[in-house]
Amino acid sequence: MTKLGIIGAMDVEVAILKEKMTEKSVTNVGKMAFFQGKLAGCDVVVAQCGVGKVHAAMCAQTLCDRFGVTHLVNTGIAGSLDNELDIGDVLVSRDVMQHDFDCYHFGYPMCKIPGLDVTAFPADEGLIAMAFEASEALKPGHTKIGRVATGDQFVASQELKDRIIDRTGANCTEMEGGAIAQVAYVNQVPFVILRAISDKADNSAEMDYPTFERLAAEHCAAVTEALAKKMAE
Ligand code: ADE
Repeated sequence: MTKLGIIGAMDVEVAILKEKMTEKSVTNVGKMAFFQGKLAGCDVVVAQCGVGKVHAAMCAQTLCDRFGVTHLVNTGIAGSLDNELDIGDVLVSRDVMQHDFDCYHFGYPMCKIPGLDVTAFPADEGLIAMAFEASEALKPGHTKIGRVATGDQFVASQELKDRIIDRTGANCTEMEGGAIAQVAYVNQVPFVILRAISDKADNSAEMDYPTFERLAAEHCAAVTEALAKKMAE
């Protein structure tokens, strides 16, 4: 039976989903609250993990161990690294890298995590297709499938943005997807990262982010709900 684990870092990224859930019960694990119930007819567990890779990894592993989720979805906002991705557009992950993982002087290429056989964690083909369809149905012509670059950094300068593009070739950057992808990969749980663009990850990011944060986060939550509906069919 499908049980979808849905992770958002911030309240604005999960609040609407929690409101829309039925048959809801809450379980606290440490400082994280896990909301079990139904969303658009699909069995889900929704959690707000907090910002950054460690929070995201803790949350994803708990969803696997304690809640037995069969699939993982990360909903939220991101900075664009791609001129074709404008504010409000949606990026569905084909794969995900950790742009700040640096064991270069230990003999590894940038972004390579020792002990793992991939540098970019591949998202699940079925989830990618369903998420793309769900997003396009809500806002046609505004969804792209591509690469997510994750790091423990809010990217707000052209210099850092260029460096991340150089290292990863990614289409957007955020702070949790790569950790969720790594946990999913190690636990062999299919995953996808859904991100709506809130800013351009350059010198305008500090200005744009507060303006577009809510709109983008709520749009991404709507895509996630539509994906849950498809999964329930
Ligand atoms: N999430 C949204 N915008 C971001 C940015 N510019 N850098 C990192 N995470 C983000």
